[in-house]
Amino acid sequence: MSVTASRPLLMDCDTGIDDAVALLYLCQTPGVDLRAVTTVAGNTSAERAALNTLQVLEAAGRTGVPVAAGADATLRGVVNADASFVHGDGGLGGVHLPAPAAAPDPRHAVDLIIDTARKAGGDLHILATAPLTNLALALREEPRLPELVSHVTVMGGAVHHPGNISAVAEANIGNDPEAAALVLAAGWDLTLVPLDVTMRENLTEAHRQRLLATGTPVSRLAGEILDFYFAFHEQTALPFRGSACHDPLAAGIAVGEVTPKLAPRVHVTVDTADGAARGALVADTRGLYRGYPEQPGANAVVVLETDGTFPELLVDRLCQVRK
Ligand code: RIB
Ligand code: CA
Repeated sequence: MSVTASRPLLMDCDTGIDDAVALLYLCQTPGVDLRAVTTVAGNTSAERAALNTLQVLEAAGRTGVPVAAGADATLRGVVNADASFVHGDGGLGGVHLPAPAAAPDPRHAVDLIIDTARKAGGDLHILATAPLTNLALALREEPRLPELVSHVTVMGGAVHHPGNISAVAEANIGNDPEAAALVLAAGWDLTLVPLDVTMRENLTEAHRQRLLATGTPVSRLAGEILDFYFAFHEQTALPFRGSACHDPLAAGIAVGEVTPKLAPRVHVTVDTADGAARGALVADTRGLYRGYPEQPGANAVVVLETDGTFPELLVDRLCQVRK
């Protein structure tokens, strides 16, 4: 499927390793109109994520994309800003890049989201690959935001799959459930890309060696930062040395390059109670054996199956030399 050309895109992320790989993929993909990047605490602090984002964009030869830092705490005031056991010291697998030439945009992420949406005149597509605090705050600041945004793609949640920060909660949803509940209830066109598919689209050591051997600034950076991520996955989540494709897969779906095999539109909310299921997605998939008939109150497309071919496409793209 071809990329949906010139669809204005804003990415809200917590630039850690897979966010960085997703950014590199977007920079390498013709027809992607990356208008802005906003950051939020999650894999690292919002500030550090903004600097990481600027460094990654510069490594990809992209300048002039405004990058603004946002929320450093959840709607409840909880600070989740250190997943260094997953993403390494500094958030990029312990790889320390030169200080970025550009400075973060002086606006708060919420203001950059709203300004970018207004400038895009209703065509903006938001790709969210982090806790949804910035989007929730933007909805509070500008209640008309859903009318200004054409689509939201969220990497997050787990439907028929275990969580990763608890038995049932995935990090982006589970680290700020109140924010996720607001985003899911906002009434915009929304697609969820959960662990059900991102854990089954795997990068392998052969992919990583190919990235390193290609040796371009983009492929080498991806290969280097993935090393730490592979070690984490091999030690905790996967039976082999490799990784999931969380944020890159969501990016591929957001730009229209990945066509899901199964993506029903159902009702989805989040458990915001303080019990064992806090942060769990509650997706009504009772249509499972009947082809998911249309569901009153459905508010999200949930990607439940993809064909497993994205990592190969991703590596091809990261290895391409862009003119
Ligand atoms: O659960 C995976 C998600 O949490 C990814 O977006 C990863 O970068 C972290 O933000
Ligand atoms: Ca992320």
